[in-house]
Amino acid sequence: MGVSEELFERAKLVMPGGVNSPVRAYRAVNMAPRFIARADGPFVWDEEGSRYIDYVCSWGPMILGHNHPAIREAVEQAVKDGLSFGAPTRREVEIAELMTGCVPNIEMVRMVNSGTEAVMSAIRLARGATGRDELIKFEGCYHGHSDSLLVNAGSSALAGGCPSSAGVPEDIARHTLTAQFNDLASVESLLDAHPGAVAAVIVEPVAANMGVIGPDKGFLEGLRALCDKHGALLIFDEVITGFRLGLGGAQEYYGVRADIVTFGKIIGGGMPVGAYCASRSLMEQVAPCGPVYQAGTLSGNPVAMAAGLAQLRYLRDNPQVYTEIDAMAKKLADSMRASAEKHGIPVAINRVGSLLSPFFAPTEVTAFVDAKGSDAQRYAKYFAEMLRRGIALAPAQFEAMFVSAAHTDKLIDETASAFDAALAAL
Ligand SMILES: Cc1ncc(COP(=O)(O)O)c(C=O)c1O
Repeated sequence: MGVSEELFERAKLVMPGGVNSPVRAYRAVNMAPRFIARADGPFVWDEEGSRYIDYVCSWGPMILGHNHPAIREAVEQAVKDGLSFGAPTRREVEIAELMTGCVPNIEMVRMVNSGTEAVMSAIRLARGATGRDELIKFEGCYHGHSDSLLVNAGSSALAGGCPSSAGVPEDIARHTLTAQFNDLASVESLLDAHPGAVAAVIVEPVAANMGVIGPDKGFLEGLRALCDKHGALLIFDEVITGFRLGLGGAQEYYGVRADIVTFGKIIGGGMPVGAYCASRSLMEQVAPCGPVYQAGTLSGNPVAMAAGLAQLRYLRDNPQVYTEIDAMAKKLADSMRASAEKHGIPVAINRVGSLLSPFFAPTEVTAFVDAKGSDAQRYAKYFAEMLRRGIALAPAQFEAMFVSAAHTDKLIDETASAFDAALAAL
């Protein structure tokens, strides 16, 4: 038994499934997880000392790769000044100024500690501001694990077979209405059926928790128009897309305005950070300015702010990062498509910017129903073949691959060769 297997046996005795977040347990790929000992640049090393080219990238935050010197040094400096004060600090002002300067249509920021908390609070704000209770989300989109949002959810909730969680009271779940991604008619009929009752439509502007599915042309614009018509707020959950599709996120990438935008992942540089943001008039509904209560002992933590600020500053000052990671992701996606064709294996390769995912599906994947039609067992075999070849991927079909600025053309070529060999071995 290897070190990772031994640790996993111990872990299972003291943590549910041996992990602190379900997808890490590798259940969707029927293996024991690798325990990671350290990471640097594009690589992670497991407890056995094996090195992998990493496309998990901590599920998105590590857009500059692991252990980036600018972030590490900022954190080291912050640690010397103390870990937490429970009082306002300079860096909170600086990161909020930077974010409002980069992201369209947001004037104010509230920092929290995770993407879940950001979205949960954004929904409270939407309900508080509109005086309405109903919420529309999309099947297969994941917005964290708060009660209102664990209804027909994606990501590990989907892979684990519990897209709607036990423990969510029916009284709460019934306020969450589910529409279909890339299907405006499904949204319109819900809005028509609940006139004057829908507080918000929440969407991942690029669905990245059912694998990666981009919005069809006109879909996000159509959501904007429907929200305007029905007096509902449009929430873009940019926990994945924020500062990944570009400094302005999906709003800028697609030219569609959202009313509330949520962030996580990249804005924390690898530390636990989330944020919800909107216009001044909406954000001043939040305590202590307004009646929507939300607070946090560790919110805006000085060390977390130092990490996030360093990463966002680096991205702002080095915008070529985006063209580079997009080009690498395109190169990888193109080679993967060519390999799939060569081997005659039906794989749909979806890519938006530096996010991509292969679906072992017989059709194009543009909707949740297509994603669900993919062969998860085949993905599991493919995952194991890639891992054996030193490539660390998300251990489930319904997740994204993240390309970082620490990847290189040479590593992309190595990954493409591994993909080709893995397909040949399936
Ligand atoms: C789009 C989206 N929203 C919200 C969340 C929840 O964020 P967290 O895991 O930080 O709570 C995630 C997590 O993957 C996400 O992908």
